[in-house]
Amino acid sequence: MNKCWWKEAVIYQIYPRSFMDSNGDGIGDLKGITQKLDYLKELGVDAVWLSPFYKSPNDDNGYDISDYRGIMEEFGTMEDFDEMQREMHKRGIRLIVDLVVNHSSDEHPWFVESRKSKDNPYRDYYIWRDGKNGQAPNNWTSHFSGSAWEYDEATDQYYLHLFSKKQPDLNWENPVVRREVYDIMNFWVDKGADGFRLDVASMYSKRPGLPDGDPGRAEIGSEHYQNGPRIHEFFHEMYDNVMAKHPGLMTVGETSGVTIEEAKKYAGLDTHEMSMVFQFEHVKLEYINGDKFNLRHVPLSEFKAVMSKWQTELDGKAWNSLYLANHDQPRSVSRWGDDTKYRKESAKMLYTMLMTMQGTPYVYQGEEIGMTNVHFDSIEDYQDIQIRNAWRARVENGGEDPEKMMQAIWYIGRDNARTPMQWDASPCAGFSTAAPWLKVNPNYKEINVKEALEDPDSIFWYMKELIRLRHESETAVYGDFTEYQKENEALYVYNRSLGDDNLLVVLNFTGEEQPFVLPRPMRGKTSALYVSNYENDGQMADRTLRPYEAAVYRWKETDK
Ligand code: GLC
Ligand code: CA
Repeated sequence: MNKCWWKEAVIYQIYPRSFMDSNGDGIGDLKGITQKLDYLKELGVDAVWLSPFYKSPNDDNGYDISDYRGIMEEFGTMEDFDEMQREMHKRGIRLIVDLVVNHSSDEHPWFVESRKSKDNPYRDYYIWRDGKNGQAPNNWTSHFSGSAWEYDEATDQYYLHLFSKKQPDLNWENPVVRREVYDIMNFWVDKGADGFRLDVASMYSKRPGLPDGDPGRAEIGSEHYQNGPRIHEFFHEMYDNVMAKHPGLMTVGETSGVTIEEAKKYAGLDTHEMSMVFQFEHVKLEYINGDKFNLRHVPLSEFKAVMSKWQTELDGKAWNSLYLANHDQPRSVSRWGDDTKYRKESAKMLYTMLMTMQGTPYVYQGEEIGMTNVHFDSIEDYQDIQIRNAWRARVENGGEDPEKMMQAIWYIGRDNARTPMQWDASPCAGFSTAAPWLKVNPNYKEINVKEALEDPDSIFWYMKELIRLRHESETAVYGDFTEYQKENEALYVYNRSLGDDNLLVVLNFTGEEQPFVLPRPMRGKTSALYVSNYENDGQMADRTLRPYEAAVYRWKETDK
């Protein structure tokens, strides 16, 4: 089974800007996190993945770093960091920090130097090219709209930025840059970090010559930098320079565009690259031709096929991570559940799935109380650079229908996940005493932590129970996965098994009652209830499932 702590852990992601503001400036901070650690302890999570807290001009909320060893002033000081980490460790909570090294900020001293002259010692830290016929060096587009190249007058060349123009891509071909990265990693490990989440880890290696991309793609050029030619060499080198020196260190790569074959290399049980990857297939299913703001309805069978494929194909070969939300994705209950009438039932059903698959589950802040998407009326209320740039490019300059674009933002936009954490029903949801940097979701009076802690039937307590059971059950963590009734468009039915121990998971993905027929291998077996979001007696049988019902039964092969 190849056991280790990060396979058995449940990880909670904190987006610091939106978690808790301790000093009334409307911006979450490190002290705010420290104040809420008992809350996380109560929930029972094993580790926190903390989104970037380093010095940054905040063009992309900290994913544009100007000092990899400094703390963002708005978030506090290095003393605040040390205290937060100490308090986490005191509670047995590990800390995973975010490593953003595909690019830096354009305000990082490296780039400030790099852009000065062609012979500057830092020139080769970034990717500079001559233009072609007065235009950008190739046709690649940025993930935040427009060309991926920015012209810089000082040296009459262009630099590459796969994200905003304030996020120039680092040149991973340069061994000195790679050395800098490993030094940064070792700095944070020496400070006590227990692992890294590797930002856009599949994009470090660009195809030499930087050829034009297929213009029919939504992200033009991505075939030349996703899982690029040297990517696995780079991760082996990182492993040798960092991970190999610190046994137990956990790494999770954000690998947009990863395939099963690639995942087996990145996160293989003995490939010595990283611990696990975030795959993106299930969160890109709605995109038409890969276009995030052009969406379709996805039949349940397609969603299930993707989820099940990652379960069965990595089994015994590589390790999965499991997630339904993060700071780049909308709220899970709004996306796959019903965020009005059956908000509690459907959120619990979704988390039952999250906690009964093979892999390491990630909970994004607010999921544990069923926070929902937000619908701001005005584009001005959105802060996310991806949303703002896309609006400008597509609506203001591209003539697209504003109504349709707004619908897409409401459904998929990143700010859905970034509205402040809803702690209580007081103004600003208990997040801050001042107007927050991004407006609070107006539903905070009904949906908040205080309400959830007082309600024994809340999503919070159900999530806590799921985490407790996960810690108890090796079958839930390591068991193999078999799916039943694949073509059923209402139910997701699968079994996990480890030796003699089995968990049958039955999930109703609809707001209607649904007939459930017990699969053949479980017929005639006795069972006990493992967990359910409704009253249930625990004996597996043909039956009618209630709206968004989740029922998990524990049974043994050898029982009658
Ligand atoms: C990752 C981050 C996202 C950020 C981007 C650029 O996808 O999760 O928030 O905008 O990388 O760093
Ligand atoms: Ca603050």
